[in-house]
Amino acid sequence: MTIGQPLLELAQVGKSFRVAGGDLFHAVKSVDLTVHAGEIVALVGESGSGKSTLGRIALGLMAPDSGSVTFDGQGLTGMSRGTFRDVRTGMQPIFQDSTAALNPRKTVRELLMQALWKRPGEGEARCLRLLEDVGLRPADRFIERYPHELSGGQRQRVSIARSLAMEPRLIIADEPLSGADVSIRGQILNLMLDIQKASGMAYLMITHDISIARAFADRVAVMMKGQLVETGLAKEVLGNPKHEYTRRLVAAVPALGGH
Ligand SMILES: Nc1ncnc2c1ncn2[C@@H]1O[C@H](COP(=O)(O)OP(=O)(O)O)[C@@H](O)[C@H]1O
Ligand SMILES: [Mg+2]
Repeated sequence: MTIGQPLLELAQVGKSFRVAGGDLFHAVKSVDLTVHAGEIVALVGESGSGKSTLGRIALGLMAPDSGSVTFDGQGLTGMSRGTFRDVRTGMQPIFQDSTAALNPRKTVRELLMQALWKRPGEGEARCLRLLEDVGLRPADRFIERYPHELSGGQRQRVSIARSLAMEPRLIIADEPLSGADVSIRGQILNLMLDIQKASGMAYLMITHDISIARAFADRVAVMMKGQLVETGLAKEVLGNPKHEYTRRLVAAVPALGGH
């Protein structure tokens, strides 16, 4: 699964923020992280460890102070806007708050058409397919709706559909279940897994929730205070954590299925 060139490669990425008093706060410190095609990598760590900052840098939404980001062999830094837009169609985000991610003035059709900007000819039929793929059936009942006419879970499904529209090779999902009602988290997680199985795309799943990493990651990277303290196969890292911090994270979550 980790054969060949990485799809996403972060090399020695660092990022600091200027905080009150003028001091620099090192949110991300020289992080190396790779995601290969078709692979599910979970980036785990406590709140404030720098996961979202790293995710934003990987997506090209924020420039690192040091280090490099390469997607599909192309460096993201210093790229023209047009090339960046092109490269970014292959790498799509799913955020925690689907309400904020969806423009309230646009219908589901408009939101999906916007995501399909590179393939304007595909139109309505493709929108309906996407809605079916994310379990919003019958699709024609959803296509005219505005975000406020949907439940939280339905909104998250629409934002997943939007991310899938351009058939990305990598999805970077930052706490995609945190904004969803507890009762539907399993459904959304299963949906993401089904889509991954069907399409073979890769995921970088950013989560403070070890149980999510345990449920479906191939590899896990553990982040503490801006640094990766442990990286490896999910089974090994979570089953036999080497670092004290990882041990604490694992111990805080009850094991599923009796092991
Ligand atoms: N734009 C910013 N300005 C200042 N500090 C920030 C900014 N973004 C994040 N931070 C700080 O960087 C640290 C890591 O944040 P974040 O990447 O959101 O962590 P996580 O996603 O793991 O909870 C936190 O202490 C946060 O307060
Ligand atoms: Mg975060």
